[in-house]
Amino acid sequence: MLARGPSRRSATRNPGARPDFRFPPAMRKSSVRRFGRILGQLVPHPTLSSRSEPSNVVETISDGRIMCSTRITSCVAAFGPRGNWMRHNAPLLPSGQPKSVLRGAMSVAGLFAGIGGFELAFSRAGFKTRLLVEVDPAARAVLKTRFPDAEVRSDVCDLSSLPPDNTIVTAGFPCQNLSMAGDKSGISGPKSGVVGKLFELIMRHQPATVVIENVYFMLQLDSGRAMEWLVTQFERLGYHWAYRVVDTMGFGLPQRRRRVYLLACRNVDPRRILFADNDPIANIPTLSLTRPLGFYWTEGRSGVGLTVDGIPPLKVGSALGIPSPPAVLFPDGEVLTPSLPACEELQGFPRGWTDVVGINKGRNPAWRMVGNAVSVPVAQWVARRLKTPGTVLELTQTSISKGNRWPQGGWNVGEGRVGIAASAKPVLTEAPSISQFRDTSWSRLSDRALNGFIDRAENGGLRMPENFLDTLRQATRKTPTLR
Ligand SMILES: C[S@@+](CC[C@H](N)C(=O)[O-])C[C@H]1O[C@@H](n2cnc3c(N)ncnc32)[C@H](O)[C@@H]1O
Repeated sequence: MLARGPSRRSATRNPGARPDFRFPPAMRKSSVRRFGRILGQLVPHPTLSSRSEPSNVVETISDGRIMCSTRITSCVAAFGPRGNWMRHNAPLLPSGQPKSVLRGAMSVAGLFAGIGGFELAFSRAGFKTRLLVEVDPAARAVLKTRFPDAEVRSDVCDLSSLPPDNTIVTAGFPCQNLSMAGDKSGISGPKSGVVGKLFELIMRHQPATVVIENVYFMLQLDSGRAMEWLVTQFERLGYHWAYRVVDTMGFGLPQRRRRVYLLACRNVDPRRILFADNDPIANIPTLSLTRPLGFYWTEGRSGVGLTVDGIPPLKVGSALGIPSPPAVLFPDGEVLTPSLPACEELQGFPRGWTDVVGINKGRNPAWRMVGNAVSVPVAQWVARRLKTPGTVLELTQTSISKGNRWPQGGWNVGEGRVGIAASAKPVLTEAPSISQFRDTSWSRLSDRALNGFIDRAENGGLRMPENFLDTLRQATRKTPTLR
């Protein structure tokens, strides 16, 4: 739940919350007044004579401290996704280009950390994870084992501070209300709405860099309302931002997984991270049974996620926690589903990453956690570029217009919002065949599951590749041969 700001009434009732600070003298009274009204919480300053004009503004933080930045150059108010206000007194970036190098920002605070996909990637690039925050106890067990030097906390909503130095905040916030498979209630939904808390922390601590990852579908849901909200918050807080849709398939893993990477920076041009690499050759493979074909066996009537020589995106499994990894029809006629270690590998984790003490292996939550995770090589590309920003490529610019689905990429570096037509494959890496990930740990899809899929597909009227359903039917009669 988002924290609601204190009302004027609660402030006057709580004399203990009186501040002992004042606005910097350079600040005009009109700004103070305006900001005070926005905050709805005004306290007269003892040394200023005007009775009518408030000269101080209180900001009460959830842990009871009171804060007011002495570096105020401009005031803005930001509003939470549910329309509740959030307070802000951060300095805005001066206009013009931000500095081009990332100075001293070597530590990472991972919020909504899951099993630490971001943080594994950042550690491989030389960053140190100081703080990890994750509400799921099973995921926390993984974090504690894999990042023994980091402080592990449980709930972002209970967090009152970030590590003090120049920190990079990673935040793959919950996607349940933004994904195609979810309830589509949007950025203010019961799960995804927790992102408001992230922005409260950003306001207070102004981290150097924030990296967000979330589902591709949020670019089109409600005409991109979630993106509109996210980038508006960053603009109000004085950050420059850039985002890009990137596909795991372009990073040496045969998993089609398009995700939005949104980067907001205070002292580096985010375009130099996300738009310094591009492989424009969009190689669309033809559907053919001579190559392995991945698909969602749990679907059938609607999109089945056919993927040539790879798997469609790993998902979190059923609401009951039953694993449902996608299946692959191999050219030898076998229809197999990957094991948990294979799924870890297909997300870029070492095999066995989630095999830690404290996880119930019965209805193993690791399936969900791996399906939730960020693909490590993609996050690693972002981390490496943060260390060594490149030169912004010349890319076709488009527009970002309100009420329309958002483009594949975009930025605002102080000169307005720009849409970008960049490929989802920034680096020149060919994904290996999914066959290279196949081993004896994979399971044969049961005849029951396969027949259920065939029935749904036949009745659903979706166009399938030639001989696909026939080959699946034959697979149900086949003696399994795993290799
Ligand atoms: C999309 S996943 C992030 C996965 C992560 N990037 C990874 O690589 O594993 C979102 C995570 O946020 C966690 N979460 C949800 N609400 C939270 C909260 N209030 N505080 C901390 N974590 C939360 C969920 O348990 C889930 O693991």
